[in-house]
Amino acid sequence: MGAVILGTGSCLPDRVLSNHDLEEIVDTNDEWVRSRTGIATRRISGEGEEVYRLATVAAQRAMEMANVTADEIDLIIVATISPHMIMPSCACFVQKELGAANAFAYDLNAACSGFLYSLDTASKHALVDRDKTILVIGAETLSARTNWEDRNTCILFGDGAGAIVMRYAENNRGVLASELFSDGNLWKLLHMHGAPSCNPAIDPPDNPGPYMLMEGREVFKYAVRAMENAVLQLLEKEKISIDDISLMIPHQANIRILNKLLSRLGVKQEKVFINVQKYGNTSAASIPIALDEANREGLIKHGDLLLICSFGGGFTWGAGLLRW
Ligand code: ACO
Repeated sequence: MGAVILGTGSCLPDRVLSNHDLEEIVDTNDEWVRSRTGIATRRISGEGEEVYRLATVAAQRAMEMANVTADEIDLIIVATISPHMIMPSCACFVQKELGAANAFAYDLNAACSGFLYSLDTASKHALVDRDKTILVIGAETLSARTNWEDRNTCILFGDGAGAIVMRYAENNRGVLASELFSDGNLWKLLHMHGAPSCNPAIDPPDNPGPYMLMEGREVFKYAVRAMENAVLQLLEKEKISIDDISLMIPHQANIRILNKLLSRLGVKQEKVFINVQKYGNTSAASIPIALDEANREGLIKHGDLLLICSFGGGFTWGAGLLRW
C-alpha cells in the first residue's frame, strides 16, 4: 500500500552555458570546474522560461505519461527556493497555467532537499486522502539568485524542473519510507539572504543581494556525512542492505560529493544515475529531473527498489525508498 508514481516529466531551458562560456564571465577554467565538480554545462533560463513555466511543462509531461488531465489534479506541491514571486506561490502559478481548477497548491522550501521533503509530504497526503491525484514538482531558476561575480558559486548551479504524478494504490509499490533531517544551527554555511522581504532594520548593511552564499569546503564535508548517515539509518529501519537497491538517484550536487558518498556506502557506480555533468546543481529540481531521465531511458523496471538522497541549505537532508 503506498503512493505510487504514475508519470514523470522534466523541462530544461534551451540555453546551454559551458565552462568555456564561464571563462568569459569569471576567472575560472574548464579543467578546474570539471575536476572539482564534474560539471561541464548547465542550463540557464531566458525569456518565457520563468520557473513556473518550466514547472508547468514538466508537470504536463508527467501528466501525459500518467494519462491524467488537469481537472483530475487535487494537489500541487512545488519544491523551490527560487519562486517567480514570494507571493503567490510558484504552485499557484502552475495551477493557473495548467487550468487545474480542482487543485489546492502550495510551495515547500527545503532547498536542495525540497523534492525529497515534498515526496514525503505528498505520500502522506495520498495515504490519508486515498482518491487524491497529486503533482509533486521540483523547479528552480537559480541563475537569477546567483552572483555572477562569485566564482565559488556561479560555476555550480543551473535551472530546470522535474515533476511526478502520484496516487494511492493498493499494492506494495510507491513510497515505502523516508528519513528526513534539518539543522538550522548551520544556516550560515549555505544561505541566500537579502530577499525583498527582509526587514531593512535587521538586514546586514553589507547585504550582497538575494544571492547564494556558501562555505564550499564545510558544505562538502557535512553533505557527505549527512547523506551517508541518512541512507544507513533508512536501510537499517527498513531491514534491507545497500545491495538490495536497484537504482540510486542522489541529489546532483557535484561529482566529488557523489563519489565520496558512493565509496563510503559501497554502491557500485553502475547502480547510480548521474547527470550533474549536463545540468550542474539544480537544487530541488535535480532529483525529479534525474528520475525522469532514468525512467525515459528505460533504466527503471516494474518492482525496482529506488533509493534517493539529498542535502541542502538549512541544513536539510535525508533519504527515501521507493518501490517502482
Ligand atoms: N575557478 C578557479 N579557481 C577557483 C574557483 C573557480 N571557479 N573557485 C575557487 N577557486 C580557487 C579558490 O579561490 C582557491 O584559491 P586560493 O587557494 O588561491 O585561495 C582555490 O581555488 C581552492 O578553493 P577551495 O574553495 O578550497 O576549493 P575546493 O577544492 O574546496 O572546491 C568547491 C570548491 C567545488 C565549491 C567544493 O568546496 C565543493 O564542491 N563544495 C560543495 C559545495 C556544493 O556542492 N554546494 C552546493 C549546495 S549544497 C548541495 O547541493 C549538496
